[in-house]
Amino acid sequence: MVSSPMPDEGKSTISANLAIVLAQTGAQVLLIDCDLRKPSINRLFKLPTHKGLTSILCGIDKIEEALNENVVQNLDIITAGPTSPNPSELLGSTRMSEFLSIVQKAYDYVILDTTPINIVSDAIIVAKQTAGALLVVRQGQSRHDQLNKAVESCGFAGVNILGIVINEARAPVSYYGDGLYYGYKYPAASGRKQYKNNSAVF
Ligand SMILES: Nc1ncnc2c1ncn2[C@@H]1O[C@H](COP(=O)(O)OP(=O)(O)OP(=O)(O)O)[C@@H](O)[C@H]1O
Ligand SMILES: [Mg+2]
Repeated sequence: MVSSPMPDEGKSTISANLAIVLAQTGAQVLLIDCDLRKPSINRLFKLPTHKGLTSILCGIDKIEEALNENVVQNLDIITAGPTSPNPSELLGSTRMSEFLSIVQKAYDYVILDTTPINIVSDAIIVAKQTAGALLVVRQGQSRHDQLNKAVESCGFAGVNILGIVINEARAPVSYYGDGLYYGYKYPAASGRKQYKNNSAVF
């Protein structure tokens, strides 16, 4: 599952991009919008919301009825579905566990986009039923104390942290100019770092 400490750090953007690049490797991928409070995967991929996770969990739709197949080659998507008055209960329900165990068997990767960890408990509830959490932080926006709090919450709940993504990371100033054209640098023969304007130049 993909989450972040606070709102607007790029969870949905990273979930969508991660799902696409995994699908491009030939793996079968399912992306599910588990942010039932502020869904956005439907908007990113221009998909309908009248069927989705909430309607599956309420027993209104079967999985295959709410599935948007091959939105991108090898990528299926389930949107959040109609607004629900009790997102936490739905995400923590037995139906959700059963649903996840079915889709986990059917796909190589199941990516879950979720709510911010420090704001509501939904993400932690979901994370407990997954292989782990990928945490997104946004350069120039996320704060250390917020990330620490999210990491602590994962620890308390026994959630495995798979890694941390730094969203909107800016490239350091390049030795060759403004860094726009040379995103990758090679170590100097000596391997010694030189520092210029607080940016590492190799
Ligand atoms: N790397 C990026 N570069 C430019 N814009 C970005 C980047 N990442 C995210 N955004 C923009 O920032 C806004 C918030 O991103 P996104 O919706 O992915 O965050 P979120 O963490 O899912 O937010 P929420 O907490 O509301 O669910 C969106 O308008 C998105 O297009
Ligand atoms: Mg989002």
